[in-house]
Amino acid sequence: MSESTSESEGTSPADGVEPASGPTARTDQSGTDETGDDEVVLQTQDLSKFFGAIEAVKDVSIDVKADEILAIAGDNGAGKTTFIRMLSGVLQPTAGEIYLREDGRLVEQFFSSSKDAMDAGIATVYQEQHLSPNASAANNIFLGMEPLKDGPEGWLLRRTDMDHMITESRSLLNEIGFDFDPRSKVNELSGGQKQAVAVARALIRDPPIIILDEPTSEVSTTGTDKIIDLVRGIPDGEKSVILISHKIDVVVDVADRIAVMRDGEIVEILNTNEDDVDRLDIVERMHRERER
Ligand SMILES: Nc1ncnc2c1ncn2[C@@H]1O[C@H](COP(=O)(O)OP(=O)(O)OP(=O)(O)O)[C@@H](O)[C@H]1O
Ligand SMILES: [Mg+2]
Repeated sequence: MSESTSESEGTSPADGVEPASGPTARTDQSGTDETGDDEVVLQTQDLSKFFGAIEAVKDVSIDVKADEILAIAGDNGAGKTTFIRMLSGVLQPTAGEIYLREDGRLVEQFFSSSKDAMDAGIATVYQEQHLSPNASAANNIFLGMEPLKDGPEGWLLRRTDMDHMITESRSLLNEIGFDFDPRSKVNELSGGQKQAVAVARALIRDPPIIILDEPTSEVSTTGTDKIIDLVRGIPDGEKSVILISHKIDVVVDVADRIAVMRDGEIVEILNTNEDDVDRLDIVERMHRERER
């Protein structure tokens, strides 16, 4: 497997971008019809975000490949969440571009909401979960895609098929190692169970790209293992995962590549399958410049 950025070098997508007139501007990027594990499914070019005078994310250019787990490691305030908020449509970039593979080529995206990103195939599990506390786990999992009952009750009266939602939620939660009642209200669940609801909500949409921001932050030890197992299991289903964490043990364990972020920049990309990656080494890289 070749190293990170090689595929985009030499053919900057920006060269082929037409003036943005609609939701997507077509780019005629590489012209190659590549397939396989190295295929780039998401790419950023010089993505930047300012908050006033603070540049939280600086010129981040990175490829995410099909079927890989890409971790972003960095200290508190390094810019990880800001970066993924741009990928998930919550924040608009100050500068730079986001591309997704559509019909075999990379197409520039302009997300104005998280729904846009979701519709484009990026599902995000946020650090602070956006769940409705008074609704059931099942209702949260199916939010915005509630199935209707069969027959006139559904098409005429628009009644949602609660039984189906409960059954499906239960089996999805079981799949990720949880067995609480999906009829429980979210505000009655533990931190780990809430996290499972957020993960299930992302997975049920079957997105090609899933982003997890600090999935272990609120989870008990057993819950952590379950979610990490889940992350490990995802690429078998042909998904790309971006995993944001400063828990180096977790990152070294599950990721194919680790992008080290420091002061808003990606300073290094390590390939855990090729490089001899040592967790102390990553911690050192996360802090290096700051200590000078
Ligand atoms: N909405 C905002 N307004 C102003 N500044 C912000 C905002 N969001 C983030 N920042 C700043 O941007 C920088 C990056 O923050 P970000 O949340 O992206 O870091 P992070 O890497 O996710 O950190 P953590 O590991 O603590 O979650 C920080 O300096 C932060 O204070
Ligand atoms: Mg964060």
